[in-house]
Amino acid sequence: MLATLMPAIEIHGLEKSYKTGFFGNKLKQGLKPLTLSVEEGEVFGYLGPNGAGKTTTLKLLLGLVFPSGGTARILGRDLNDIEVKRFIGFLPEQPYFYDHLTPLELLDYYARLSGVDPRERKRSVDTALARVGMTASGKTQLRKLSKGMLQRVGIAQAIVHNPKLVLLDEPMSGLDPIGRREVRDLVQELNEEGKTIFFSTHILSDAETLCDRVAVLNKGELKGVGVVADLLRQVSGEVEVVWQGAKAISALSALGARCHATGDTVRAVLPERLLEAALDALRVNHARLTRVTPVQATLEDYFLARVGEEKSAEVTA
Ligand SMILES: Nc1ncnc2c1ncn2[C@@H]1O[C@H](COP(=O)(O)OP(=O)(O)OP(=O)(O)O)[C@@H](O)[C@H]1O
Ligand SMILES: [Mg+2]
Repeated sequence: MLATLMPAIEIHGLEKSYKTGFFGNKLKQGLKPLTLSVEEGEVFGYLGPNGAGKTTTLKLLLGLVFPSGGTARILGRDLNDIEVKRFIGFLPEQPYFYDHLTPLELLDYYARLSGVDPRERKRSVDTALARVGMTASGKTQLRKLSKGMLQRVGIAQAIVHNPKLVLLDEPMSGLDPIGRREVRDLVQELNEEGKTIFFSTHILSDAETLCDRVAVLNKGELKGVGVVADLLRQVSGEVEVVWQGAKAISALSALGARCHATGDTVRAVLPERLLEAALDALRVNHARLTRVTPVQATLEDYFLARVGEEKSAEVTA
């Protein structure tokens, strides 16, 4: 769902340096100056490998750590505005809940913390629990719940005060495919109800199916931001070529195509820019062309192109 009323998050040159080293005398840039905005109504994916600065950004937005520079506004208000907390829900990366509590008790506690009107509290707790499909387990101790169920309780905690903006740090990590699917569906539903969702992840397929836009971060630095389809267009494409005639394999392999033969049928994948040369080689070798299909680039291809190159340069250095 996309509605452009006002930015839900506006970040201008926000940065964070951590003191490191034995004497705390060295500085490490956890987040280099970041400028980014997230529109109201968006599902925004914040992508990056370990140590990219995702959690640092979320903690800055929540006021849990102080920026070394820059500013940010949430729903038009300054970060330091205490009122803004009422409109934000947050699921931390590794939530720690007392495991002898039940979901109902936990949510009641968070509803108190986030200032839900006492008269509304029971209804808010029941609504949040129902919202994540956990009503039936409301009185079961948390230690008896599966990881997927715990994650849903964590999301219920983030929405118990009906926030406009929900920040989720790695909401799908550690879940099996069914658990991931459930969280993905839930994020989508919350968005359809009008909430803006900003979530960090390194699971690219989840971001690809869910997000209106994504940002890619590496080593504290923004590497790209945009609509997933636009980012994918920046990745140089590949084509799949299928033909009859094994004789042409050596010519195509020499061009750099990856060929797989099944009997006389050959399937090859090669960069789009080599297509003309490949078709010429097929003609020369009297091969019978069956089909040419563009191979759809994935967010993973983009990610590897933007982040992977740096990593492989490091490994060989
Ligand atoms: N409290 C801290 N003190 C020192 N350095 C820190 C601190 N917190 C984070 N860092 C460093 O800042 C960088 C960014 O960390 P951050 O936790 O934001 O990354 P991330 O993208 O959330 O990674 P992950 O996917 O592992 O959760 C890392 O190099 C990390 O070591
Ligand atoms: Mg993190």
